[in-house]
Amino acid sequence: MYSLIKPALFRINPELAHDLTINSLKALGQCLGPSVPEEGRPCEIAGLQFKNAIGLAAGLDKDGVAISGFSRLGFGHLEVGTVTPRPQSGNPKPRLFRLEEDAGLINRFGFNNHGIDALVERLQEHPYQGIIGVNIGKNKDTSNEDAHLDYVTCIQKVATVCDYITINVSSPNTPRLRDLAEARKILGVVAPVLEARTDLNNRRGHYLPVFVKLPPDFDNKDLIQVLEALKRTQVDGVILTNTTLGREGLRSNFRVESGGLSGAPLTTKAEHCLRIAIDTLETTLPVISVGGVMSGEDAQRRLELGATLVQVYTGLIYRGPGLVRAAIRMTR
Ligand SMILES: Cc1cc2nc3c(=O)[nH]c(=O)nc-3n(C[C@H](O)[C@H](O)[C@H](O)COP(=O)(O)O)c2cc1C
Repeated sequence: MYSLIKPALFRINPELAHDLTINSLKALGQCLGPSVPEEGRPCEIAGLQFKNAIGLAAGLDKDGVAISGFSRLGFGHLEVGTVTPRPQSGNPKPRLFRLEEDAGLINRFGFNNHGIDALVERLQEHPYQGIIGVNIGKNKDTSNEDAHLDYVTCIQKVATVCDYITINVSSPNTPRLRDLAEARKILGVVAPVLEARTDLNNRRGHYLPVFVKLPPDFDNKDLIQVLEALKRTQVDGVILTNTTLGREGLRSNFRVESGGLSGAPLTTKAEHCLRIAIDTLETTLPVISVGGVMSGEDAQRRLELGATLVQVYTGLIYRGPGLVRAAIRMTR
């Protein structure tokens, strides 16, 4: 079915195709309602029971407008966001590019989103019973010195309407955001969020897991240092990786565009980061692997390398919704 729709979608502007897809999934969800996750390989992280290992990566449904529609693809969890305290429009268009020859995307959206209050309202109403994570970030005009305040605002507002939080310090499209992911800075954001989480656990009546999403562009030594720093905190998991600034081996003319690269060109790097994370963290923290998962075999390989869960984004654009059930099948 997707093979019939894909050529038409790939002929139109990528952001328009993205909006059309979200609107179609939103309409599908409104007509049919949500569905429960497909049965697959079950796992548990910090008390959360995942029915299968495959999740939707952040950034596709930033504002949580199509949760029911996405749930119908079979995902074991859905991560919405990145959301910031105040709404913002993101970078000027064009800001999304298809690198067809490379099966990749470059985006420089810059956290365009409706803001945390709108998301909270939507999550309060949604009927989906599966696991929902909210990926949180800082507004573009918030300085890095005050960034922790934005993250704390987001967690405080959204804690009662989601199942886990992801601290995103890894988008390349918010100036200097990735500086916050360095080993000597990361606790400046993570520690206040974890403090806020302690207060919120009482309000929620149960524990709220917090994950941290990292970039793929550290050298090995720096990545190990960040992971060592996180290991000493009460964080519940690490999501590796966000998009890359690297441009190695690309053929498409769009390779000169600035922004984060995702899809097939990221596969090797994401697997490399996963190996380092598993070696460094041993069994202290689970790793959620994302980046260049383009097939069921790719997903299976991530679990074999030691990941607990796998997320997909760009693979959905190239392979279509069938990728989700293929990956669930391969990882049973
Ligand atoms: C268009 C686009 C927008 C994205 N927006 C976000 C975002 O808002 N927050 C985030 O944490 N990751 C975002 N990502 C990164 C993805 O969640 C994922 O980490 C990355 O694309 C690698 O996975 P993939 O190769 O399966 O796409 C975005 C990716 C794309 C392609």
